[in-house]
Amino acid sequence: MNQFTYYAPTEVIFGQGTVSKAGEAVVDAGGSNVLVIYGGGSVIKNGTLAQVTASLDAAGISYTTEGGVQPNPRLKLAQALVDKYEGKGIDFLLAVGGGSVIDTAKAVGMGLYGGSPVWDYYERKRPVTGEIPVGVVLTIAAAGSETSDSAVLTNSEICVKRGCSTPFNRPRFAIMDPELTYSLPSYQTACGVTDIMMHTMERYFAKDAGQNRMTDEIAEGLLRTVMEYGLIALEEPTNYQARSEIMWCGSLSHNDITGLGRPKDFAVHQLGHQLSAVYDLAHGASLSAMWGHWARYVCREDMARFANLGRKVLGIRCDDEERAVLATIQGFMDYWATLGMPISLSGAVGLQYDMVLKDLAKGCSYNGTRKIGSFVQLDQDDILEIYRLANV
Ligand code: NZQ
Ligand code: ZN
Repeated sequence: MNQFTYYAPTEVIFGQGTVSKAGEAVVDAGGSNVLVIYGGGSVIKNGTLAQVTASLDAAGISYTTEGGVQPNPRLKLAQALVDKYEGKGIDFLLAVGGGSVIDTAKAVGMGLYGGSPVWDYYERKRPVTGEIPVGVVLTIAAAGSETSDSAVLTNSEICVKRGCSTPFNRPRFAIMDPELTYSLPSYQTACGVTDIMMHTMERYFAKDAGQNRMTDEIAEGLLRTVMEYGLIALEEPTNYQARSEIMWCGSLSHNDITGLGRPKDFAVHQLGHQLSAVYDLAHGASLSAMWGHWARYVCREDMARFANLGRKVLGIRCDDEERAVLATIQGFMDYWATLGMPISLSGAVGLQYDMVLKDLAKGCSYNGTRKIGSFVQLDQDDILEIYRLANV
């Protein structure tokens, strides 16, 4: 096995009814003056926010609530919250929602601790040296932000969606009550399953990936599990077993356990982030739209690995390697189509002119100044070719 460091400090409080432990968890984490952050209103409609605040009240915690986080969360709101709460003694941030809410809380935590402008941390203009701690009550299994070290924001003024990764971003605790996800619209359930798969696959395809067998087995098992229960959850939204399996897969897919001992690739995420920045496309849809076309572009780098994944996860039996690879790629695309996800750029945002694709490639490569991916490093020309392949 290759060397690795594994750091997953988030306390996971998992299962039916755990939402009532929010107050206790905040006290244990040392919070006393709490800013509760939520999204566009689903947690008001389904009663989750009321459950959380009742638990905070019972624990005698002082708190303020702020809503309005939108999917593909905006820098503007995070910065506004930092400006509003600077100097107010907030010592804990409680995110009640999904990746967008959690990432906003993380950004606010960086800003309240280290100062403004928040975007500086995303542009690596200054290092993150600490953060007001964040806790999570998770309402959608998808982004994995409840245990990850990353926070992703969209700066809509310059059409850029960018992540900031630091160990300080790891939440102190994540309350994961699968019943909170019963109210998810099918599309969001499908987007979540897609994202969970992608976090696993973006780590599976890595240079010299073959030596960490246990890591592979975890990744393959996770993919089989989330794919099976994803279909069940779409049929039966209140199936507890399905919702809980998906929720746990979501955290494991992005707390690094599926990628130990190898570099991450994450090229598909970068291709997708550019689509979300420009078209405000849901994150999961931006990934399913791109993966198959990325895979066809890079698969010759390690055909055996693609074929292996297809055999282990999709049950592909073909001995011919080339055919097995093509069947693997098609198999995953077919699965996402079954979930109702787009599997092409045109399926996601409509057929685009070539000049638009050139602009996307320019944005994704930061004007040609960066390459994406590590399995195969892709420059602006490669990125353009993949957008072209996807534009069918
Ligand atoms: O805003 P509300 O009204 O709450 O509705 C949300 C939102 O419309 C809804 N929703 C969430 N829980 C619900 C619910 N609706 C009904 N019942 C519930 N229980 O779902 C919609 C999507 O929510 P969002 O938080 O955007 O979803 P997700 O968790 O997929 O997060 C996506 C964001 O996370 C980023 C993505 O780029 C995207 O911006 N990511 C963050 C990562 C990280 N920090 O580690 C890694 C990921 O790769 C990803 O990039
Ligand atoms: Zn993702």
